[in-house]
Amino acid sequence: MTVNLEIDGEIAIVTIENPPVNALSGVVREHLLALADALDGDPNVRAVVLTGAGKLFVAGADIAEFDRPPEPPFLPDVVARIEAAAKPWIAAIRGAALGGGLEVALGCRFRVATAGARFALPEINLGIIQGAGGTQRLPRIVGVAEAIRIVAENHSPNGKEALRLGLVDALVDEPLVPGAVAFAQAVVGQALPPASRERVVSAPAANVWTEAEARITAGARGAAAPPQALQALKHGIEHGVEAGLALERSTFLALRATEEAAALRHLFFAERAALRPGDLRALSPRPIETVGVVGGGTMGSGIAAALLNAGLSVVLIEQDEASVLRARSILAGLYESSRRRGLMSDEVASGWMARLETIIGYGAAGRCDLVIEAVFEELAVKRSVFAELGRVCRPDTILATNTSYIDPRLIADGLPGPERFLGLHFFSPAQVMKLLEIVPTPDTAPDVLATGYDLARRLGKVPVRSGICDGFIGNRILRRYRAEAEALVCGGVDIAAVDAAMRAFGFAMGPFEMQDMAGLDIAYLYREAARARGMPVPDMPGDLLVRAGRKGQKTGGGWYDYAAGDRRPKTSMDAQRIVAPLVGAKKEMAGEAIVSRLMATMAEEGHAILTEGIALAAADIDLVEVHGYGFPRKRGGPMFQAGRLGKT
Ligand code: 3HC
Ligand code: NAI
Repeated sequence: MTVNLEIDGEIAIVTIENPPVNALSGVVREHLLALADALDGDPNVRAVVLTGAGKLFVAGADIAEFDRPPEPPFLPDVVARIEAAAKPWIAAIRGAALGGGLEVALGCRFRVATAGARFALPEINLGIIQGAGGTQRLPRIVGVAEAIRIVAENHSPNGKEALRLGLVDALVDEPLVPGAVAFAQAVVGQALPPASRERVVSAPAANVWTEAEARITAGARGAAAPPQALQALKHGIEHGVEAGLALERSTFLALRATEEAAALRHLFFAERAALRPGDLRALSPRPIETVGVVGGGTMGSGIAAALLNAGLSVVLIEQDEASVLRARSILAGLYESSRRRGLMSDEVASGWMARLETIIGYGAAGRCDLVIEAVFEELAVKRSVFAELGRVCRPDTILATNTSYIDPRLIADGLPGPERFLGLHFFSPAQVMKLLEIVPTPDTAPDVLATGYDLARRLGKVPVRSGICDGFIGNRILRRYRAEAEALVCGGVDIAAVDAAMRAFGFAMGPFEMQDMAGLDIAYLYREAARARGMPVPDMPGDLLVRAGRKGQKTGGGWYDYAAGDRRPKTSMDAQRIVAPLVGAKKEMAGEAIVSRLMATMAEEGHAILTEGIALAAADIDLVEVHGYGFPRKRGGPMFQAGRLGKT
């Protein structure tokens, strides 16, 4: 059943039951329309309570329908029909009322909610604006300033705040429906407030619009939807609700059809699928409360911070007093800056440092449910760490390596209980970056793998399973991407033109600016090691730069020059002279051509990764790029791009 009807005396109870999130799919819209007609015609019914089955009210329109043209009945018509009903409809809300769900509630004459309910219009996150009156009815209920925050800035009030804003008329305790029915009985026979669309709203001072426009355009960073949501809202205030509704709907339909919206939908579904891989759904993860982190450098400190942020206890193991002190001071700094910037709730903050133990030696590893190794990237060092862990840890303690490139099978070789070992590859800064590559070995037990996913979920990370290959999924594609960018330079394309093209595409930095920031030497040393092993690795421009002492920003220059204390890249005649022996005649190349060449290279490597079974799905590769490497979200990822180009 998608919409159920019960009658309780004079009150009809309409329950949307469309698992998992009561989305407003076509059949739900049909039922709601039919019920609005039927209940208007039923003389025994005097009011209607509308609610959602299960944990939430309604999560919005059915996003899965957005890849097809809209099909009638359209949601704005359903909302308008409920609003025009002869009897008052009362939305009874627990859990989330999101997007179209909130728009339906705004079509009701009253709203009641539990204190913990959550209200939001998150359409802008999907590259669209509200499509069923949210930009018009909301300001007429809560006022323009609050509506702007909810419509275009992702503000999401809970039940209590909603009551203060007038968005809900009363808070009710669980059980929700009897409370809502009692509310309905109380309003029956009384004079009704005007419908939402008919309420009078005062226009704000002119500076409210100009300030909101500036703030929202800056915050949107090129995304189309947030400023357009604001425009629809403003249009309705200045020209009336009908004009506002018309602009809102036409904008919604136009944006819904854009590549940007399709890319964001693709990621929406990929992110959810990533958390629950089909083959692990039936497995229970092992309980994890105390986590050991071996190595408190760049990665170990960041990983410890991510764990502490999630409420876990951390034992950080270092090799000497100076390293312990350095790690503690990095972590104290991260704690302070998160607190200062209001990024940490009081609940998480309390006990944050107290849940951190920093020690030398392995004694405390016996208390850990999971230990993550993040020491130097050297096989011998890592093996000596796991030899200790194998000796000290409980046999059921899960052991993980954060290695970037070393084959995890070599690291685990000889470990007692190899089924409890896996790779957990975090990205720097680990407390910020959402990607977690999960790398099982052939020995890893399924419940250990499931625990890796559970940990990702608890840390708020996006887990992607990777098979074992050099660089796993992300660094393998990165290497191809960089090499192709250097090949463009060898072909005579200007260094800055390549960076500018990728920035225009949406990356925060182009490939050369990124190399300068991260340092050119690691990739250089990697190639030198391959050469030392007798592999035919031809010289690349980056090799010439490193040999000339240009390792990036840390040496004052790499592909570009940098003034002291200034991270802005400046064209470098020195760099151009150094790479000149490998560079052909100057060649003009349009930005779009540069982008398609680099996209094609990434996708080609992605296809190889898929064919070899290193990644399980193309969408996983897109998640790796978006959450680990700054690939612009609005572009969906290299595999999404390849599919799009394939279709045209
Ligand atoms: N349409 C279709 N499917 C949806 C959906 C939606 N609006 N929202 C969630 N789902 C699906 C998910 O894909 C997932 O499917 P799966 O089980 O097959 O992977 C399942 O529902 C459960 O979702 P989550 O894993 O996200 O469950 P959570 O409990 O963690 O979160 C939620 C629930 C808070 C409702 C979260 O899913 C969410 O934020 N959903 C999106 C809300 C949204 O963006 N609404 C606006 C839609 S656009 C709109 O309404 C336009 C209108 O103005 C016309
Ligand atoms: P780092 O050099 O900043 O930190 C390594 C830390 O390990 C040092 O603090 C050192 O004192 C400690 N250490 C070394 N041997 C130890 C031992 N036997 N016992 C206890 N502590 C020991 O290195 P970084 O960058 O944090 O890298 C660590 C690991 O993470 C490497 O495997 C690296 O490949 C991987 N990695 C690095 C990323 C990065 O961006 N830096 C990204 C993802 C993974």
